[in-house]
Amino acid sequence: MANNDDQFKKVISHAKEYGYVFQSSEIYDGLSAVYDYAQNGAELKKNIRDYWWKAMVQMHDNIVGIDAAIFMHPTTWKASGHVDAFNDPLIDNKDSKKRYRADVLIEDYCAKLEAKIDKEVAKAAKRFGDAFNKAEFVSTNGRVLGYQEKIDTILSRMAKSLENEDLADVKALIEELEIADPLSGSKNWTDVKQFNLMFGTKLGASADTAMDLYLRPETAQGIFVNFLNVQKTGRMKIPFGIAQTGKAFRNEIVARQFIFRMREFEQMEMQFFIKPGTQKEWFNYWKETRLKWHKSLGMGDDNYRFHDHEKLAHYADAATDIEFKFPFGFKELEGIHSRTDFDLKQHEEYSGKKLQYFDHEDNASYTPYVLETSIGLDRMFLAVFSNALVEEELDNNTTRTVLKLPAVLAPVKAAVFPLVKKDGLPEVAKQIVDDLKWDFNVFYDEKDAVGKRYRRQDANGTPFCITVDHDTLEDNSVTIRHRDTMEQKRVKIDDLRDIIKKEVDVKHWLQKMK
Ligand code: GAP
Repeated sequence: MANNDDQFKKVISHAKEYGYVFQSSEIYDGLSAVYDYAQNGAELKKNIRDYWWKAMVQMHDNIVGIDAAIFMHPTTWKASGHVDAFNDPLIDNKDSKKRYRADVLIEDYCAKLEAKIDKEVAKAAKRFGDAFNKAEFVSTNGRVLGYQEKIDTILSRMAKSLENEDLADVKALIEELEIADPLSGSKNWTDVKQFNLMFGTKLGASADTAMDLYLRPETAQGIFVNFLNVQKTGRMKIPFGIAQTGKAFRNEIVARQFIFRMREFEQMEMQFFIKPGTQKEWFNYWKETRLKWHKSLGMGDDNYRFHDHEKLAHYADAATDIEFKFPFGFKELEGIHSRTDFDLKQHEEYSGKKLQYFDHEDNASYTPYVLETSIGLDRMFLAVFSNALVEEELDNNTTRTVLKLPAVLAPVKAAVFPLVKKDGLPEVAKQIVDDLKWDFNVFYDEKDAVGKRYRRQDANGTPFCITVDHDTLEDNSVTIRHRDTMEQKRVKIDDLRDIIKKEVDVKHWLQKMK
């Protein structure tokens, strides 16, 4: 079994080799933390986006979707608080000259303590066997309680220091915990400084009239400023949601984990406008609903956990992350934030326009509260892709590399092969491709032996392979092979569409959320 670092390296090289993700501008040695999606990657990304859009917009009659511009009036970002408060606390190591997020260094330290707890739990589970009660163990075992207390003390001190802008105490904490530079081992740190993450640009041709703009650091503000337009034109009644997907930009300083943290990335966000006072109920509703969406993809229920925020962003009264077990450990995949009426109130103040909702039942106007769900599309891509990549030992002592993508998300749903490149078999195979391509993304391949073609499609994540042979010419039947089970069946050409549809259909997958 590969260790986590090896597994992550394999993920990155497989993503390149099979046309999923390339380094941006690679011929010029690339651009750090910027990536391009290749022929298969673009399809996988689109399928994830569609899966989200179907679940959020199409399946909810009170949620609509928009597509706001990346450029927004610069006052938007003053009002939203991003100009003043969208900062990361950074610290430099004086010896290695490497820059880190101070809060991430501390969180990684706590993650190591958590790993120690996991080890204790695993040891005890082995010792006690079926009689093992995890909840009881973690609430009574002295060593586990000690680790947990240490984690809680560290995180709450960090949250308090960041809240109070006490950066000297953040540095003191790093020094007290003797946290070393993960690359060089040096503990020679600079002071902690705040760094704004927004990219600036200019609108207009002449230097004196040009307007300073920002590339949006989140898609959410495009929804807030359109709240009343959508509510009025769509005759929306509270509670209702506005969803969108689109690019966001952040000048991330610590950007080392492939597409986990990028400078240009895509978000899928939904703002749910609610009556003030109902935010707790909706917070719980969206926590549960979003977790069900993740679990519907069958990527392992144990690979998710909630992480409630100690330090709340300037706009939130409650927040949690859905964390996923990436090859480098549990990390944030999606955020669920109770944003109060902060954003709408701020935009009212800065624009001088009323952004209120008239409630006919109460015969009163109010500024709605907002519950937000926000997931990074690229991060979701990494979760899906890294979870899917496995190496399997086969019965004949060989291994196969297989990308077990959820079939609904796979870029190519079926590959069609003629057994040989003659005797009219390619013509029949191409006819099958022509028939199936109305419903699915399909691929034709006639190069190499069939076994090799199967392996290529396994590594590519294609759920089905269809082989046309000489019997096909007699009885219109083909062999269909399933990627995960490798089971092969003889079926009629006329039945192919239904067989594939059954497994790749969005409905089949989304119904698991019920
Ligand atoms: N509107 C709220 C908001 O933007 P966030 O927690 O800063 O909240 C939401 O971002 C999600 O966007 C994260 O959970 C993550 O999946 C994704 N994300 C944030 N920064 C990212 C980056 N630099 N690269 C890739 N994805 C990122």
